[in-house]
Amino acid sequence: MKHLIFFSLLLSLSCAGYAQTGEPKNIRIATDHTDLVLQVPENGRLYQVYFGEKLRHEADLDNLGWQVHPASDGSAVARGWEVYSGSGNEDFFEPALAVTHTDGNPSTYLYYVSHRSKPVDGGTQTDIVLRDDRYPLEVTLHYVAYAEEDVIKTWSDISHKEKGSVFLSAYASTMLYFSAGSYYLTEFSSDWAKEAQMSTQPLRPGKKVLDTKLGSRAAMHMHPFFLLGIGQPADEGQGQVLIGTLGWTGNFRFTFEVDNVGNLRVIPAINPYASRYELKRGETFTTPEFIFTLSRQGTGQGSRNLQAWARRYQLKDGQEPRLTLLNNWENTGFNFNQDLLAGLMKEAKDLGVDMFLLDDGWFANKYPRQNDRAGLGDWEVNRNKLPGGIAALTDAAREAGVKFGLWIEPEMVNPKSELFEQHPEWAIHYPNRKTYYYRNQLVLDLSNPDVQDYVYGAVDRLLSENPGIAYFKWDCNSPITNIYSPYLKERQGQLYIDHVRGIYRVLQRLQAKYPHLPMMLCSGGGARCDYEALKYFTEFWCSDNTDPVERLYIQWGFSHIFPANAMCAHVTNWNRTASVKFRTDVASMCKLGFDIGLHELSTEELEYCRQAVANWKQLQPAIMDGTQYRLVSPYQGNHMAVNYVSADRDTAVLFAYDIHPRYQEKLLPVRLQGLDPDKLYRVEEINLMPGARPALKAHGKTLSGDYLMKVGMEVFTFGSMQSHVVRLTAQ
Ligand code: DGJ
Repeated sequence: MKHLIFFSLLLSLSCAGYAQTGEPKNIRIATDHTDLVLQVPENGRLYQVYFGEKLRHEADLDNLGWQVHPASDGSAVARGWEVYSGSGNEDFFEPALAVTHTDGNPSTYLYYVSHRSKPVDGGTQTDIVLRDDRYPLEVTLHYVAYAEEDVIKTWSDISHKEKGSVFLSAYASTMLYFSAGSYYLTEFSSDWAKEAQMSTQPLRPGKKVLDTKLGSRAAMHMHPFFLLGIGQPADEGQGQVLIGTLGWTGNFRFTFEVDNVGNLRVIPAINPYASRYELKRGETFTTPEFIFTLSRQGTGQGSRNLQAWARRYQLKDGQEPRLTLLNNWENTGFNFNQDLLAGLMKEAKDLGVDMFLLDDGWFANKYPRQNDRAGLGDWEVNRNKLPGGIAALTDAAREAGVKFGLWIEPEMVNPKSELFEQHPEWAIHYPNRKTYYYRNQLVLDLSNPDVQDYVYGAVDRLLSENPGIAYFKWDCNSPITNIYSPYLKERQGQLYIDHVRGIYRVLQRLQAKYPHLPMMLCSGGGARCDYEALKYFTEFWCSDNTDPVERLYIQWGFSHIFPANAMCAHVTNWNRTASVKFRTDVASMCKLGFDIGLHELSTEELEYCRQAVANWKQLQPAIMDGTQYRLVSPYQGNHMAVNYVSADRDTAVLFAYDIHPRYQEKLLPVRLQGLDPDKLYRVEEINLMPGARPALKAHGKTLSGDYLMKVGMEVFTFGSMQSHVVRLTAQ
């Protein structure tokens, strides 16, 4: 009723230039430990008045509002932390929204209209409608608060009924504000074979921007997530930290702006670079989801929040078991035939993994895929290499007793392909300039519905003709080059955005028809790692760099945002100076796979690998579905340790690694986390080479969770590239 009265009051006053509520109105977006409180003061606009630890007393909400300053001259214009600030208004810093209206006016003032909340799977969704007082332009802010996991996701809808089109040049998902003495940003920079490299810097007055402009393979140089330490650099075990990530598989931009009085605003958004977006009357522009958690117990707790949330609510089949596999890319490259593959399938079975995954090089006839210069786009099996077709391969897999997975890269085309000969206009490239290539290929124009149909049709045909395909590795090796869509013509501002939406449309159609097909998201390594794509993919390939030492850093980095069951790690021959045990123990921290010629391994190494696969499968409730505790950071020295605990806290596993320790350095015991202090755990060193004796003093003992968490275990050594895996079983 109160809302109704307010709404009619608003409507009657809107022609006066602003809406007056007559009373402050609080909108509370709350999880179990966090409050984000928004308020509509006298002037009818919407401001953030609190973001922090959950307030105990509802009545205290009425005391909030110091961030909103009434105008000194008595006019209706207040200054404050406007939740979705429009360009051209009295706020002099970076806006969330920039619209050029049909009459050329570049300003937007948004006033509160209404809000409502409803329960949704795992949380509460709040939708807040805002409207410009001079133009029929509306923004709906959506928030879903996941109480138990302390995660909030938020996105916005922009629409209008102006006569003609408006142009959007900024369209943030949301804005968040902080007031603290200092702020520290940790970003995750990247390149091929160098993913998720963490570095931290203080934020000073002015802007710091993390963004990419690559279109596809979009996160190659910067990943779409960050840590923000409030008052101190993000710390694993203590202190306040915001972890944020944007669910967008294209160009993104995070703006961090410290203003004239030392307040910080954080603006997560699609990158508007070359994307002045035309929004027609009646159309809705939906921004990507920004997903965040505010931890007061440091980054470790924040990561656990996101990991638990992702498995329950975002990651495709996030609570289902994962398939261990043998891949052939590092082993055979493009050189294989049917018999060789059938042999590898038998090896996969002998190793004990669930699946054989055939990588690049199996397709195209007129321009066979012998290397990376031809064939992309022609998704028929190469008859010379594989005369029996995919059916012979799925038959061979069935006979061997493993599942069969297949590599595809369906968003791309090589100019040397039948597809390009037939449809050059389907590739993104300039009509009037020399074409330049990245990995000899071009990106198909997924803004074009015909191209969406083609890509969907190619994948659908593979699946419907070959029901034995149990898995896809979906690759994407090129950024968008030669940025021009023959389809969009003079509307090129839509390209970067509509292209990504086109990919989602294809994935949605596939998901509707094959709802539980597991798929690996791959992009020349880990250049696609976002939570929108992961609605359609069960896991992602973290990096082509499988040197186990490098992987310790890469996996450490990605674990800040993603659960272990979303992260693929394979044992390969990158870094042969590391033992097969060390390589396997590093891969065992994530979704385990192998990409190595097993016949090259010694009998002992192969036996060790079989045992490690069996152990990993037995420990899935802890590693894949349990809770992760990062214990010792590789960034802090020469060692690394992580432990996982199953939901019932009956099973845990500790992974400990020595990288390149210094001579006689001080080795400290590792204190575990997350165990039940009152349970007794049998301690067993596992993943031992055949014949090797357990080296750890604690092996064979029964120790309490309390002891293991307070006193810990000696697991580090002075050896280079040594590893220890410890299973803890409650008695
Ligand atoms: C890049 C991927 O990251 C690799 O694993 C492999 O699939 C190649 N592409 C194949 O071209």
